Amino acid sequence: MTDNLQLNAEGKLKHFLTIEGLSKALLTEILDTAESFAGMSEHQVKKVPLLRGKTIVNLFFENSTRTRTTFELAATRLSADVINMNIATSATSKGESLLDTIRNLEAMFVDMFVVRHALSGAAHFIAQQTAPHISVINAGDGQHAHPTQAMLDMFTIRQIKRDFSSLRVAIIGDILHSRVARSEIQALNTLGAAEVRVIAPKTLLPAHVESLGVNVSHNLTEGLKDIDVVMMLRLQKERMSSALLPSESEYFKCFGLTEEKLKIAKPDAIVMHPGPINRGVEIDSKVADGPQSVILKQVSNGIAVRMAVMAMAMQTAPAPGRFSGIHTIPGDRHAGSLPAGGIHTIPGDRHAGSLPANGIHTIPGDKSGVA
Ligand code: MLT
Repeated sequence: MTDNLQLNAEGKLKHFLTIEGLSKALLTEILDTAESFAGMSEHQVKKVPLLRGKTIVNLFFENSTRTRTTFELAATRLSADVINMNIATSATSKGESLLDTIRNLEAMFVDMFVVRHALSGAAHFIAQQTAPHISVINAGDGQHAHPTQAMLDMFTIRQIKRDFSSLRVAIIGDILHSRVARSEIQALNTLGAAEVRVIAPKTLLPAHVESLGVNVSHNLTEGLKDIDVVMMLRLQKERMSSALLPSESEYFKCFGLTEEKLKIAKPDAIVMHPGPINRGVEIDSKVADGPQSVILKQVSNGIAVRMAVMAMAMQTAPAPGRFSGIHTIPGDRHAGSLPAGGIHTIPGDRHAGSLPANGIHTIPGDKSGVA
């Protein structure tokens, strides 16, 4: 599926629903924009006004820890107002349709929906139905796609390995039920990885998996040879309709990543996992907490990447590379030098600058403001 719905008339990101159909240039722009935001977490004041005045609704119909929290942090760091809808206590649980929920939220002047849903295609459906000024970001839909997870993983890989073209990446475990695996495979192939290899028992692979652009192995010991990046996946039991494995301990014996097995990969291989990790099922604690693990770095990078995607979708992203180092606050030891006037400015932020004569902070173009 080529998803032009994701792009506006100028070919810029409008919704972020899937990696499929997006160009290498656009994926690289997301990574470069995220780079600009990555250093911000170390500043004393972790905020920029790029989404000031915008309202973002986190619509999570499925549980989440990392994804929801990092989306919320990303939005608040961009100075947006964020509403977390608690679906368990919302009218959706009283039978209101998804479309009616969306229409009601639209009536509250929302600018962006971040959507997680158990049904594949839910975010796509909302993007098709919603008002034209609203952007939709897919935070995971069924078994289909998890594009921001893929991009934060690409960001982490690029941070450590620099170049995709020489990389051999192994994705290991429950590929069949994993929206992460689908998005990772698309991102790695688009960014030009040398090889994407999937390693799993036959029961945990989709039919015709090779057509996704991967090599296949059913043996972890053989499959880990020459690998630079090891991506582990959780067994997604909530999506399994029947028993696909003899037992978890048997699975760990054959496909669990231990220190011993990791030695088969390249000595400088990194270990990744989108979380939540199941210790002793797909990964041994010594590996998850070991020196080659970048699992917590993935979590941190989720904030910068989600900031990039949100700012790009709202067309407020700074030009890549123009942003870092200019976030200055008096007394912020991490920041660069203070600009003349001591005002917290962002290049390209037309809203910033001196306070208007009447002392009221107005947004250009906002006709509702006080003259
Ligand atoms: C997901 O939402 O798909 C997660 O990040 C991965 C998982 O649940 O195993």
